[in-house]
Amino acid sequence: MVKRFNWHIGREQEYPYDAPPPKKQVAYVFDTNKCIECQTCTVACKTAWTSGKGEETIFWNNVETKPYGGYPQGWDHRLMDKCGPATWDGKKLYSITIFEKDGEGTPPAGHMPSERDYASPNLGEDELSKMIDLGSHFDGTHEGWMFYLARICNHCDSPACLAACPRKAIYKREEDGIVLVDQERCRGYQECVQACPYKKVFYNVINRASEKCIGCFPRVEQGDVALCVESCIGKIRLHGFLTTQEKPREDNPLDYIIKIRKLALPCYPQFGTGPNVFYIPPVHVPDPFLEQLFGPGVEEAKEMYRNLKDDKQLLGALMLFGASPRIIERYEVQGDEAVGWDVDGKEVVRVPFTEPTYYRKHYDEK
Ligand code: SF4
Ligand code: F3S
Repeated sequence: MVKRFNWHIGREQEYPYDAPPPKKQVAYVFDTNKCIECQTCTVACKTAWTSGKGEETIFWNNVETKPYGGYPQGWDHRLMDKCGPATWDGKKLYSITIFEKDGEGTPPAGHMPSERDYASPNLGEDELSKMIDLGSHFDGTHEGWMFYLARICNHCDSPACLAACPRKAIYKREEDGIVLVDQERCRGYQECVQACPYKKVFYNVINRASEKCIGCFPRVEQGDVALCVESCIGKIRLHGFLTTQEKPREDNPLDYIIKIRKLALPCYPQFGTGPNVFYIPPVHVPDPFLEQLFGPGVEEAKEMYRNLKDDKQLLGALMLFGASPRIIERYEVQGDEAVGWDVDGKEVVRVPFTEPTYYRKHYDEK
C-alpha cells in the first residue's frame, strides 16, 4: 500500500500499487448537454475493435440513459449500495473510497455483474420504447428529466483493475497514462472485472481473457483523436492530454476546462480511482442527483455553462469539440475565432464564434 494524493477527492488515499505518474495523462471532456444518443460512437468503436467472437455483448463505448439506464445493468447503483452515499467536506471527500472499504491489504470493493446484466445495453430506454413490458423493470417514478451519459474506460490515475489483477497483466503507460490489458499475461481471473467500478473491463469467454478500451492508442501515437471522438455527430467530445508534472496550462483546452475553470467534472470521484473522463453536467437535471454522480462543483459548473456568452477563453475551448481529427495540444482565441495547433505545432483548426449567414433569394424573388 502507498499513500497518494488524489486531486479528484482533495485528499490522500491508500492505493495498493506503486507506480510513478505518467508524463502526461490522456483525458476526455464529454458535454452531456449536447449528446443525442445516436450511438454513432458505440458503433464506430465496436466495428473497429470488438467485432470478433466472444465480443457480442462487449461495448467498450456505450451511451446510457440516466437515471435508469446502465450497462451492465445497475453497475453504479450496486457499488453505491455497497460503499454508501458519498459525503463531502467542501471539495474533500469525507466518506471512504473503494480502496478503503475493507481495510488495508484487501482488494478494491467491487461486484461481479451477471451475464443477464450485459444482455440489454440500455434497459431503461428499451422499456420506454415498449420493447419490453412497461413497468416490468422499474416501478418508481421521478420528475420528468433524463439525459444521456456516454461512457468509455476512464484510464484512471489509480486504476482498480490494475490493482486487483494477481497476474499483473494490466499496466498504465508512462508516456500517456493509457491503461491496457496484456493479452499474453492475462489468465482470465476476472478480478479486474469485479474491481473496476465503471465495469469497463470485459471477460471474453472465447479467448478466456479480459479486454478493455485501448484508448485508440495506435491513433493517439500518430496524434489523432480516438474513433469515438472523431465519429461523434453531436460533437460532444474533446480528447487530449492533461498536464501532470507541471502547472495546468491556460492554452491547453483540457487543462483549462477541467483543472483551471472546473467546468467539467469526473464521474463518481468518490470511488477513488481518479477517472479521466470528465463531464459537463446537464443543466436541466436537479443538483442532488448530479452531486452523487459528479461530486461537488455541479452548481458552479452549470452556472458557468449558462453564462458562456462573454467568457471567450472558455467558449473558445468549447468550440474545439469535434472540430478536428487531430489532438489539439495548444489553443488560442484570436479575435472572433478559436485556433488550435497539433503536437507538431501545425495549425489544425480555426473555428469562428459565429457562423456567417447567407441569404438565398426565393426562386420568384427578383
Ligand atoms: Fe481500469 Fe475501470 Fe479505471 Fe478503466 S475505468 S482504468 S478499466 S478501473
Ligand atoms: Fe488479471 Fe483480469 Fe486477466 S484479473 S489475469 S487481467 S482477467
